[in-house]
Amino acid sequence: MTRIDQARILVVGATGALGTSIARRLADRGARLVLHGRDASRLADGPAHVAAVAVDLTDADAPEAIVERAVEALGGLDAIVMAAGVVGFDGVAETAREDLETLFTVNALAPMRIISVALPSLRESASEGNQPVVLTISGIVSELPTAGLASYSASKAALAAYVAAAGRELRRSGIRLVDARPGHTETGLAERPLFGTPPRFPRGHDPAAVADRLVRAIEDGATALPPDAFTGA
Ligand SMILES: NC(=O)c1ccc[n+]([C@@H]2O[C@H](COP(=O)([O-])OP(=O)(O)OC[C@H]3O[C@@H](n4cnc5c(N)ncnc54)[C@H](OP(=O)(O)O)[C@@H]3O)[C@@H](O)[C@H]2O)c1
Repeated sequence: MTRIDQARILVVGATGALGTSIARRLADRGARLVLHGRDASRLADGPAHVAAVAVDLTDADAPEAIVERAVEALGGLDAIVMAAGVVGFDGVAETAREDLETLFTVNALAPMRIISVALPSLRESASEGNQPVVLTISGIVSELPTAGLASYSASKAALAAYVAAAGRELRRSGIRLVDARPGHTETGLAERPLFGTPPRFPRGHDPAAVADRLVRAIEDGATALPPDAFTGA
């Protein structure tokens, strides 16, 4: 059980639909937040926060800059919510090398590196008697790689594998990693792809219900949220 009230939490991708909803719920519950996004003015209008950090995740030193700012502003770190992400729709043959690299950087490499860089702070939180947690949102595609979403599926599967293995490694240190794998959710993500044209999706999950489930996972000790954890959402 991880306490949200007064917890020091970094929300990566806090300008996104799920990131904003999660951050608002955490702020309402008394968490102390550092919000990350790309646009400083949108962050300033975001949920109540202690500090904000505007950095593009494709910048080489973004993970270090984000974690450093969060730890400095909060005096430590008890949780990280990783809600940044970008989608692209293949043609496998047509996918440009730069687009593939951006998908992997934003969806996999940056969150992996953020976890790694934040580890000393998360260990310190555990040693202070807290139960630190990292929440990632890989999505259903990490379990069910999807035609037309080959690059996106692969980037998310990479993140999911890393979180599963790192979670096993870090369990003894008292640090919990939880990867969430909701199906398509009506946040508009698919309408702003990095490349390609979205297919017509069947109606997806309600973003508010998904955000509720994700916030619950921060507290309830879950170590994974498979797609069926979102049934009815
Ligand atoms: N919606 C779904 O169907 C669904 C299903 C399963 C998993 N997920 C995952 O859930 C997470 C949140 O998705 P969402 O639906 O809330 O999407 P969203 O509203 O489009 O939010 C995406 C967030 O990622 C940020 N971002 C994108 N590229 C970035 C970059 N290069 N540098 C820094 N930040 C960047 C965006 O910043 P800006 O605001 O500046 O664009 C935004 O904050 C994503 O990882 C997504 O893959 C979504």
